[in-house]
Amino acid sequence: MTLITMSQCRARSLQRLLRCKPASGSKASCSRLVLGIETSCDDTGAAVMDETGTILGESLHSQKEVHLRNGGIIPTVAQQLHRENIERVVQEALDRSGVTPAELCAVATTVKPGLALSLGVGLQFSQRFVREHNKPFIPIHHMEAHALTVRMLHPLTFPFLVLLVSGGHSLLAVARGVRDFLLLGHTLDEAPGDTLDKVARRLSLRKHPQCFTLSGGQAIELLAKDGDRKRFGFRTPMGQTPDCCFSFAGLRNQITMLIKKKEAEEGVEEGTLLSCVNDIAAATQHTVALHLAKRTHRAVLFCKANDLLPSGNPTLVLSGGVASNQYIRKALMIITEATGLRLLCPPAKFCTDNGVMIAWNGVERLREGNGILPPDVDVSYEPKAPLGVDISAEVRAAAIRLPSIQLKIPN
Ligand code: KG4
Ligand code: ZN
Repeated sequence: MTLITMSQCRARSLQRLLRCKPASGSKASCSRLVLGIETSCDDTGAAVMDETGTILGESLHSQKEVHLRNGGIIPTVAQQLHRENIERVVQEALDRSGVTPAELCAVATTVKPGLALSLGVGLQFSQRFVREHNKPFIPIHHMEAHALTVRMLHPLTFPFLVLLVSGGHSLLAVARGVRDFLLLGHTLDEAPGDTLDKVARRLSLRKHPQCFTLSGGQAIELLAKDGDRKRFGFRTPMGQTPDCCFSFAGLRNQITMLIKKKEAEEGVEEGTLLSCVNDIAAATQHTVALHLAKRTHRAVLFCKANDLLPSGNPTLVLSGGVASNQYIRKALMIITEATGLRLLCPPAKFCTDNGVMIAWNGVERLREGNGILPPDVDVSYEPKAPLGVDISAEVRAAAIRLPSIQLKIPN
C-alpha cells in the first residue's frame, strides 16, 4: 500500500480543482477561467479571463475624483470606497462574462505591494470568495502584473527589459520568467506619478478648466502641449550617479522653489493658477522624461554587456500609469531606436491599474502551474515587496558611462 502524505493529498485535490469545467451559458468553451481582483491603491477592478487571454467581462471603479477633491489619497477613505464597491465590481465582471463562480478555475488577487488598508479589502473579499466556492487562490504581485500585461497583447517571449513607472513605483527590471525578475534599479525616494500628482496639486491644476477631472500626470501632459519646455531649466536628477536607480524628490523641490518664486513675482497667493503654468508643466514633464530615458539607456547597455537580452528582437516594455504619457513614450523611443531595441507599451487603459492585468497574471501562473494555493491557505498582504532579485549594486559597480544621445523629443 502506498503511503499518501498530507501534502500529496492536498496537491491532488488542488489538481482536481484546477481541471477545466465546461462553462454552460458563458462566452467561453472549455478553457480554464480566472477571476482577477485588484485593490492595491485607488482602483477597484475585476475581470474574468479565459486561458487564451480573452477578456470575457470586466469592471472598474476609480476613486480618482474623491482623492482629487481631498488633495491626495487618504488610506482610510480608499479602504472605505473599496469596501463599498468590491462586491458590485466583482459581480459586474461575472455578469458581463456570463460566468458563475462555480465555473471559475481560480481567483487571482493583488496581495502586494500597495496601501495596506486597500490590499486588505481585496484579500479579505477574495479569501471569503474562494472558501465559499472552493476555488484555488493565486496571490499576485502588482508589479509582476504590470510587467506581464504586455504578453496578453503581443507574442513576447522572455527575457525582456521592463520600465515600470506609476504613482507608487519606478523600476527597471529584466523579466526572465513569470516569477523571475532581475531588479536593475528602483526609486530612492518617490515615484514619478507621485511627483507629477504633487506638482499638479501645488500648481492647483484642479482649478484649471481643462484639468479638474484629470490625474496629476494627465493634467501635466495636457498643459505641457502648449508650454515651452526650455523656459525653465531643471537639473536632471542623479547626473553623477552611474546606475539605474531613480530619484524625483529633488526635482520636486526645484519645481516648488520655482513656483514660489513665480507666485512672488506675479504677486499671487499659493493656490492661484500661475500664468506660466503651461511652461512649468512642459519643463517638469521634459525633465521626468529625460531622467527615465537616461536610466533606461544605461539599463540597456548593462543588459547588452551582460548578455541579459536575446540577440534577436530585444525588447523594452514600458508600463504602469505614467507610461500612458505620450511624451515619455517618445523619449524612450529615441533610446530604443539608438540601441536597436523594440519598444512595446500596452494601451493606456492597460497601463493604469485594472482587474484585467491581475486576471492575466493569474492565467500566466495557471499555465505554469506555479504559485497556486488551495482555498483554505491563509495569505497575508505585504505593503512593501521588492520585485525579483535586486542587482542594482552590481549595476552601480559597473559604472557604465552613457554615450551622448541627442534627446530631441518631439512635442
Ligand atoms: O499604475 P497606476 O494606475 O497606479 C499605481 O499603481 O500607482 O498609476 C497612476 C499614476 C498617477 O500618479 C497618475 O498621475 C499617473 O499614473 N498618470 C500619468 C498619466 N496618466 C496617469 N502620468 C503621466 N502622464 C499621464 N498621461
Ligand atoms: Zn499600478
